[in-house]
Amino acid sequence: MDLFSKLFIFLLFSSSKPIHASGFYRLEREDLLYVRDSLTSTANLHSKWTGPPCFENQTRWIGITCFNSHVVGINLTGIQLTGSLPPKSLQHVAYLENLNLSDNALHGDIPTLQGLNKLKIVSLARNKFSGSIPEGFMALPRLTRLELQDNLLNGKIPSFDQKSLTEFNVSYNFLEGKIPETSVLQRFKASSFDHNLRLCGRPLNKPCRGLSPSPSPSPSIVPPSIMPSPTSGPSRTKKLENWVLIVIGVCGVMALAMIVLCCLCYYKRNRKKETMKKREVSGETSSEFPVSRPGGSLSGEGTSKLESLEFFDKSRQLFNLDELLRSSAEVIGKSKLGTTYRTTLEQGNIVVVKRLRGVSGLSRKDFVQQMEILGALRHENLVEIIAFYYSKDEKLVVYEHVGDGSLSHLLHDNRGVGRLPLNWSSRLKIAKGIAKALAYLHHSLPSHRVPHSNLKTSSILIHDRRHPKLTDFGLLPLFPSPHLAQDLAIRSSPEFSQGKKLNHKTDIYCFGLVLLEIITGQVPEDHDGDLPSWVRSAISCDWSTDVLDLEIVAEKERHGDMLMLVDIALQCAAVEPGRRPSVSVLVERIEEISEGEG
Ligand SMILES: *[C@@H]1O[C@H](CO)[C@@H](O)[C@H](O)[C@H]1NC(C)=O
Ligand SMILES: *[C@@H]1O[C@H](CO)[C@@H](O)[C@H](O)[C@H]1NC(C)=O
Ligand SMILES: *[C@@H]1O[C@H](CO)[C@@H](O)[C@H](O)[C@H]1NC(C)=O
Ligand SMILES: *[C@@H]1O[C@H](CO)[C@@H](O)[C@H](O)[C@H]1NC(C)=O
Repeated sequence: MDLFSKLFIFLLFSSSKPIHASGFYRLEREDLLYVRDSLTSTANLHSKWTGPPCFENQTRWIGITCFNSHVVGINLTGIQLTGSLPPKSLQHVAYLENLNLSDNALHGDIPTLQGLNKLKIVSLARNKFSGSIPEGFMALPRLTRLELQDNLLNGKIPSFDQKSLTEFNVSYNFLEGKIPETSVLQRFKASSFDHNLRLCGRPLNKPCRGLSPSPSPSPSIVPPSIMPSPTSGPSRTKKLENWVLIVIGVCGVMALAMIVLCCLCYYKRNRKKETMKKREVSGETSSEFPVSRPGGSLSGEGTSKLESLEFFDKSRQLFNLDELLRSSAEVIGKSKLGTTYRTTLEQGNIVVVKRLRGVSGLSRKDFVQQMEILGALRHENLVEIIAFYYSKDEKLVVYEHVGDGSLSHLLHDNRGVGRLPLNWSSRLKIAKGIAKALAYLHHSLPSHRVPHSNLKTSSILIHDRRHPKLTDFGLLPLFPSPHLAQDLAIRSSPEFSQGKKLNHKTDIYCFGLVLLEIITGQVPEDHDGDLPSWVRSAISCDWSTDVLDLEIVAEKERHGDMLMLVDIALQCAAVEPGRRPSVSVLVERIEEISEGEG
């Protein structure tokens, strides 16, 4: 580790100024993290709520609304949030106006929300909250909408009297006693209070007979259970019977629908198999090879020479075009650049075939020339090009098939239960492999304006979870002008969006983005494609270790190394191409980071 890196890391860990002197951010954030860590959900907040929640008016976290860097809204509905909210949750999220946690499975007491004087909307409907409605809600001066229906709340309704309150619903609970006679509460209709068996009062048209204020420990206070007691009168049983009928009816219809669906699926699958057997050329279904076959529709240009696959390595020449087109193919990627298939040949070999789009104007000479350059490349971290095919209508590139799917898949798929985490040493090893391959490309293709030009986590294939191989490289010369290559990874670079000249350093920018994705585990699209600014802002606010992916953050003794890689990544992602390191400096710096044991 050189002096500079040490200094950098020291600065990372020692800067502790919040953006605002008020310090609200830190407390807001801590409160939200406390909530995050108290609950589980299908939205996997653990990996999505990291770093700062807000950046000016923009949110960085799902379900959060921001205004002037403060959290003003929390909207987490219908994501099966489970657990209970700590009593004093959110008390420092002082600018909160809108809290919507409806349609979840939260239980326990409703938090008091004390002091959140800006709150306008509180919706906790359709959860499993129990206990009583906090008295403190009466003191929320701006409360306009309170939705607590469909919970297991008991006790009395507090005497809400704030004039702001215009929407109110506590139906379907176990509330009891008299609806307070405040002018505000009396305004609401019966449907705001319905289905609370022991609730009475004017809005419900149900006088409170014999319910004089009796503060005695009355036996009528029954703690609610999940199922309301079935012994609640004839109307209830009648209702239950109706329910049973409805449920039986619905089940019947669903069963019928399932049978029909199964038949349809079966029929479709059989048809698919048949079409695959027939090997018809159609281009419509994706599970066969939708390519014009030689001898078939090929136009005047077709001569036997043009119709064959060109192999680079004769020992690889184990199949011909006809066999390739006859084999079963599965679409594994689709973009404006073309469609990628995984093709299983008859002998059982698997190859990957890319059918290029949008290069129809390309002459045979140019295509063959480019392919010959790319086909000659050999590096352990580069996917080998086995063969290519050119006709006027079709351009195919045949690649070797590589194991476990893409880096993007490895980083982001199956997050949650059952996922095998990707540890730091694997990530570092992958980063090193990518850097080496990129260096090889830059040295081997000096005449290419941007040698790789499509470096992104989905074009990095991984085998054995730690060995990367780059694919989709070197395609830029196939486009008449670099700026027509809208679908290549280079489009995310600043120089591309500004219409400026691209060069080798454009690849370096893309590499920076890949590194950031590896370290943060964040999907760039979640940050409007601007992962670098998110990381920079987090780092400048003393949240440096927050940028680390949750899966590696536990490896504390490696934080220094991780942040060193963050530093390299941010240099690569510099807006000004001249400030990005060259690929050889890059390899050197990454190689310096120790892989440690494991
Ligand atoms: C946030 O939005 C408000 C209102 O639209 C605007 O006045 C304010 O300048 C914005 N803040 C920033 C930092 O963009
Ligand atoms: C709240 O979240 C739900 C579900 O994610 C979404 O449909 C809804 O539009 C959001 N509402 C607001 C106000 O953001
Ligand atoms: C809360 O979210 C649910 C689901 O997205 C929506 O139906 C409801 O209207 C929202 N409530 C408020 C007060 O915004
Ligand atoms: C209150 O909620 C219940 C249950 O969702 C609904 O049937 C009723 O119409 C609501 N009442 C008002 C006034 O919104």
